[in-house]
Amino acid sequence: MSEPFAVVEVIRAKRDNYVLSNEQIDWVIDAYVRGVVAEEQMSALAMAIFLNGMNDAEIVRWTDAMIRSGERMDFSALDRPTVDKHSTGGVGDKITLPLVPVVAACGAAVPQLSGRGLGHTGGTLDKLESIPGWRAGLTTQEMCQVLQTVGGVICAAGPGLAPADKKLYALRDVTATVESIPLIASSIMSKKIAEGAGGLVLDVKTGSGAFMPDPLQARKLAETMVRIGTDSGVRTRALITAMDVPLGLMVGNALEVQESVDVLAGGGPVDIIELTITLAREMLDLAGITDIDPADTLCDGTAMDVWNRMISAQGGDPKAPLPVAKYSHQVLSSAAGVLTRLDALQVGVAAWRLGAGRARKEDPVSAGAGIQIHAKPGDEVAAGVRLLTLHTDDESRFEGALAALAGATAIGPVGSRVTRLPLVIEKIN
Ligand code: URA
Repeated sequence: MSEPFAVVEVIRAKRDNYVLSNEQIDWVIDAYVRGVVAEEQMSALAMAIFLNGMNDAEIVRWTDAMIRSGERMDFSALDRPTVDKHSTGGVGDKITLPLVPVVAACGAAVPQLSGRGLGHTGGTLDKLESIPGWRAGLTTQEMCQVLQTVGGVICAAGPGLAPADKKLYALRDVTATVESIPLIASSIMSKKIAEGAGGLVLDVKTGSGAFMPDPLQARKLAETMVRIGTDSGVRTRALITAMDVPLGLMVGNALEVQESVDVLAGGGPVDIIELTITLAREMLDLAGITDIDPADTLCDGTAMDVWNRMISAQGGDPKAPLPVAKYSHQVLSSAAGVLTRLDALQVGVAAWRLGAGRARKEDPVSAGAGIQIHAKPGDEVAAGVRLLTLHTDDESRFEGALAALAGATAIGPVGSRVTRLPLVIEKIN
């Protein structure tokens, strides 16, 4: 088959800062999936996009071409409105786990296709896989069935969903082209739009533990994604939220499941409850459900009921004890005073080094590894009390984790004022 473009011309155009045409974009994505555009050619194009950017029309078309590279799910036969959320990822960010049952308990259907973690932020599927028996892989038919009967489902995206993004994301990972707003926005939104929910709430993190530590960049990413979603007919909103400090008090797979279950049982840390309920309200508003307070579902047991049914539907035993790591080590406060710092990135890297995360996508993760946090910034602490407990299955990992934590905490004199980002910084409609 003769090709309508020469890839070298497309690369040269973006290298020289020209705007790519719709036809060039459609062709280059399709030809990449077909193997006509080679990996080294797509690497050069990704780097040209990284350096020169894309305008709004190019980003929307690039996203659309990636959606069209695969299947688009259709939940229009369901008897409830569908709505989903996506987080750009952070340390201790287990919000999806309580959020899906809360929103489902209020009457919306939540089809959540999640990923595994890479680097210092954990993946939702890794967390759920610490529940004995639970499986992430469902066929489309199974997914629809769980969604219809339970109201919420969290599972792995199949190979047919935005295959162009799967290929391109793996390439960006090894060519230093991940941190580009057009490429991140199109990557996330191609998967979320192909997933087929009618509404989407984006939780865009900012702060040291986030993909986009700079708040201005986080806002630009959020605005770009909201524009792409809206242009594609998905009601989309974004919240920019804090990731300067880990969310909650647990970081690690089974530890985060335990904390989520605590929240569903009506307890748990205040920041997890607040963010879950804030996101739930936005999702329910997009789904047109405004007569029910999602906070009630945590007190009356209805969200926990959805959780139990959702876990059981995927082979998990919600009552089974969660795995516990073999070894633990405590980090103690060196002085009395106020905890003024607990750096999200450093805690995330330490948890990763303890075995909670993976360096390459084929690596296994440890279910029990991670970090329990005993004090958050602003808390008064006595000298010698526990600040953190580290958990691992491999004692030799403590050294690397402790090195990652050097300077992660600081104690100021009693009365020290601590400035932290507000949990919800901004809303983008
Ligand atoms: N998550 C994605 O799915 N894609 C990106 O490019 C970055 C984060």
